[in-house]
Amino acid sequence: MLLKRGSACTGLAFRRQQRPIHKPPSDSDHFRARPVKQSVSAAAADSKRTAVVSGTGTFNGIGRACVREFLKQGYVVVGLDMNPPEDVEADEVLQQFQGSHHFLEVDVSEEASVKNAVGAARQFFGDQVHCVVNNAGLAIPSMPDDPAEKVAAFRKFLAVNLEGAFILAEACIPFMPARQSSIIHISSIRSKFAEPNTEGYTSSKAGMLGLTRAQAVSLDKKVRVNTVMPGYIDTPGSAGEITQDQHDWHLVGRAGHPQDIAHAVVFLADEEKAGFIDGCELMIDGGVSAKLVYPD
Ligand SMILES: NC(=O)c1ccc[n+]([C@@H]2O[C@H](COP(=O)([O-])OP(=O)(O)OC[C@H]3O[C@@H](n4cnc5c(N)ncnc54)[C@H](O)[C@@H]3O)[C@@H](O)[C@H]2O)c1
Repeated sequence: MLLKRGSACTGLAFRRQQRPIHKPPSDSDHFRARPVKQSVSAAAADSKRTAVVSGTGTFNGIGRACVREFLKQGYVVVGLDMNPPEDVEADEVLQQFQGSHHFLEVDVSEEASVKNAVGAARQFFGDQVHCVVNNAGLAIPSMPDDPAEKVAAFRKFLAVNLEGAFILAEACIPFMPARQSSIIHISSIRSKFAEPNTEGYTSSKAGMLGLTRAQAVSLDKKVRVNTVMPGYIDTPGSAGEITQDQHDWHLVGRAGHPQDIAHAVVFLADEEKAGFIDGCELMIDGGVSAKLVYPD
């Protein structure tokens, strides 16, 4: 399958019933975090399901769409991003659910930064995290042209997209109640299909599939772990305006919207609806991966 070069990545309601599966770290384990905006209390989180979503800074990104859908489902949500959230005042859903969301600045590739943020987030989600969505990532898949920069670029893709997902999951697992929680990795269609000069991105997203299987087995009867593989989603992470030809290339006649991914994420997080789905890879690409393409 050929994708537009440089395009982005054609790439849960239960009360507290069980104790966390591990003892939470003591306060001394926590680092300092830099809150962007304080808008929810631990008391509010006590009676609600809670989600931690990474990569929530971009107004029209997949992460923010996940935050909105979780909020609509009654969750308390902590959003993590290395950039402060764009346009909070213009975000009608965030405005509607004030008091149920909180954003923290974090670099997911830095373990200390993630521990710091998760420690700070406990005042909002208490001792229970019901869903972790690993969405933060370097979304433009191309490698640099300069050979001297390639190894560093490859490592950066793995550090942010793959190691970052592992680091955040590890920091949250001690707070995830058994049989009530799940981890969802946002991989990419590019974990299965590649185009030239995308070694770093493709390897990082393929690594998430292995991570999903390994974590699902390690967290047997505790936490479900699944992967969503988006196709061509219209986000700022995608390159430029999507042409009619690019829409028509999809079997459903259009490129994806961030909500297409967010709806799947909220479904996978729901224990009642998705409680039998574990270790699963869900491709959401408008049908393009089903199509056999012959040369012209
Ligand atoms: N848009 C697509 O077509 C598409 C397709 C497949 C997969 N994806 C994946 O979906 C996810 C979201 O992509 P998007 O299109 O919404 O792009 P986006 O660039 O809008 O979102 C990515 C977010 O991750 C944040 N981020 C980057 N590095 C970080 C770090 N080190 N620590 C913390 N936050 C960091 C960015 O600030 C940004 O807010 C990415 O993982 C991307 O690979 C996107």
